[in-house]
Amino acid sequence: MRLCVFVSGRGSNLQAILESELLKGKVRVELVVSDKPECKAFEIAQKHKINYVSVREIEKSGFVTYDQLRARLEKEEIDLIILAGFLKKIPEQMSKRYEGKIINIHPALLPFFGGQGMYGMNVHTAVFNSGMKISGATVHFVNTEYDRGMIIAQKAADISDAASPEEIAEKVLKIEHTLLPEVIHSMADNRVQIVNNRVYIIKNSN
Ligand code: GRF
Repeated sequence: MRLCVFVSGRGSNLQAILESELLKGKVRVELVVSDKPECKAFEIAQKHKINYVSVREIEKSGFVTYDQLRARLEKEEIDLIILAGFLKKIPEQMSKRYEGKIINIHPALLPFFGGQGMYGMNVHTAVFNSGMKISGATVHFVNTEYDRGMIIAQKAADISDAASPEEIAEKVLKIEHTLLPEVIHSMADNRVQIVNNRVYIIKNSN
């Protein structure tokens, strides 16, 4: 399966995908896309000899537009787009073209603590201030609304003893790094099914 990973910053989820034993021989990251001209994730792409490109709605030198990017994804026969810390909203044309083929990782248990502005430390601070004793990560399909596509998989973390939002972030990030490769693995195996508006992952028989 041919993957394209969208990032905005550090790229630790990109790295988790690239280093996942589970995904070895099953998937290839063909392209890394960012809304930034430069970011840490691009350094990771470079190290792994993966092409990378910056995207913007409006033409600007050093960036491709979403239309140009779509043409490139078609040409490269990308099967799955993964938003791994990508902060911009995906234009409707793109999310519609790749319906069921774009997934996002969110650092909380959706449908709580999601939506516009809920990214990075904003999420963990809101979870911390809520007094919740569990948080976790969610992988979901991307549709035209922020964090509202169908939930594919979730994993929870006990945060009852967390002393700060940073501690929650650390616990959740560890979960993200295993959950995202697991979901990609299930998708590569065609084990993700939608029945009555609910997503099921069929267990791996191996
Ligand atoms: C992750 O917590 C991801 O869930 C969120 O942004 C963070 C990105 O981290 N949407 P990284 O760039 O993968 O290290």
